[in-house]
Amino acid sequence: MLALNFKPFPIIETNRLVLREITKKDAENFYRLRSNKEAMRFIDKPLAESIDEIKSFIKYIDKKRKDNDAISWGISLKDGGELIGTISFHSIEKENYRAELGYMLLPEYWHKGLISEAIPKVLNFGFNDMKLHSIAANINPNHEVSRKVLEKFKFKKEAYFKENHYFDGKFYDTEIYSLLKH
Ligand SMILES: CC(C)(COP(=O)(O)OP(=O)(O)OC[C@H]1O[C@@H](n2cnc3c(N)ncnc32)[C@H](O)[C@@H]1OP(=O)(O)O)[C@@H](O)C(=O)NCCC(=O)NCCS
Repeated sequence: MLALNFKPFPIIETNRLVLREITKKDAENFYRLRSNKEAMRFIDKPLAESIDEIKSFIKYIDKKRKDNDAISWGISLKDGGELIGTISFHSIEKENYRAELGYMLLPEYWHKGLISEAIPKVLNFGFNDMKLHSIAANINPNHEVSRKVLEKFKFKKEAYFKENHYFDGKFYDTEIYSLLKH
């Protein structure tokens, strides 16, 4: 069984970015992200409705991290500090040494190579520090950009689930991608 320890919070740096803890101070930007229709278009989850909801979500994320059950990094520019996105390992299956990768950025930061800068360091953390054996990513099959991101980092398509995800009165298909440690 995988033994995880996310204490102290593992800060990660890249050329332009700092991946760090998400705190209450990020509530406004985190709300902007989770309530943005463009950013949430292929996430197939409800849009955030209030800052209070986001504050509860931040508490939930913090508890998950302290319980060593999941980890979410807030993405900031080194020369900014404000939250511009998030990247996470969630749905961790400790018994299978497997976790799911998720990522999102505010639209004004898209297509600048930022997520491509964060992902290699996060994968490295997942495989070498967390000792994961496989990292999965679930996408809406219409999400061409996310597929491109995953293929860029050599994720392979593992499965296609038909109408397995119910959201807002509709059933959505899911593509599962994964990357193995070796
Ligand atoms: C998915 C997302 C994180 C990509 O982040 P990003 O920083 O813009 O991606 P990058 O700039 O690193 O680009 C990665 C690849 O995707 C391509 N790409 C990025 N945006 C694109 C766009 N709008 N159209 C076409 N290709 C695009 C890039 O060309 C790049 O490929 P390349 O290096 O071979 O040229 C961002 O679009 C986002 O936050 N989307 C909303 C949230 C979301 O859907 N998350 C994923 C859920 S599964």
